[in-house]
Amino acid sequence: MTPTFDLPSWRYDEASPLVRDFTSPAEVRDYEAFHARFRDLDADVERAVALLDPQPSWIIADYGCGTGRLVRRLAPLCATVHAIDLSPAMLDYTRARAAEQGLANIRFHHATFLTYAHAGAPLDAAHSALALHHLPDFWKQVALTRLHAALRPGAPFVLTDMAWPDDHPLDAIQAWLDGLAATDPAIADALADTPRREFVTADWILREILARAGFTLLRAIPGSANVSHTYLCRA
Ligand SMILES: C[S@@+](CC[C@H](N)C(=O)[O-])C[C@H]1O[C@@H](n2cnc3c(N)ncnc32)[C@H](O)[C@@H]1O
Repeated sequence: MTPTFDLPSWRYDEASPLVRDFTSPAEVRDYEAFHARFRDLDADVERAVALLDPQPSWIIADYGCGTGRLVRRLAPLCATVHAIDLSPAMLDYTRARAAEQGLANIRFHHATFLTYAHAGAPLDAAHSALALHHLPDFWKQVALTRLHAALRPGAPFVLTDMAWPDDHPLDAIQAWLDGLAATDPAIADALADTPRREFVTADWILREILARAGFTLLRAIPGSANVSHTYLCRA
């Protein structure tokens, strides 16, 4: 059967916030300060750039770009960057920062994993960080199948997301939250909503979803507490 890329109205509703409302201007304003309490934002961007290895002629997309740190880092290194996010407030923030930096090769798309319809030449590379776990697993599969279809054969795709380890996942989640609580109890409380209310899946399931979407996994790099991973794939 030919795959369907234009999805019907009964597709999963990506607009309903699970925990944090990324469309809220206050959420956008506080986003980077909040995330800096549990991740190294600059290191995350530099790891993605190194894995993507962008070339000057390339067209690259970032799905769920948030405040656009990676998009703005990639723009001087390639031909065009597509910044995709469901939140107009995140896109406005990214657009304003990009204008301050004089970056003119970023295209902004108020769209989602399930609605972004890539037009023109296929993407030479794609990236997504900490956005896919907002979708239930069936819809992750649909999302990554659509994303794969937007890429040229052989293009790199770098996915960073939460993914529970295959061995003793409950212990790993508890150890992760205990580790956070040791230095920042408020952040541990806030992030406990991730296993409770979001759709983080298991590492083996995410690898299987990537494979069934058509990707070859080249490397999987575990995050510091082994509850997140960066997957370097090839379309
Ligand atoms: C936790 S933030 C991650 C932002 C950025 N990638 C980073 O690493 O900091 C999640 C972002 O993905 C966006 N998002 C969530 N679900 C999405 C979806 N289904 N399609 C597109 N964007 C989505 C949110 O609006 C938000 O900007």
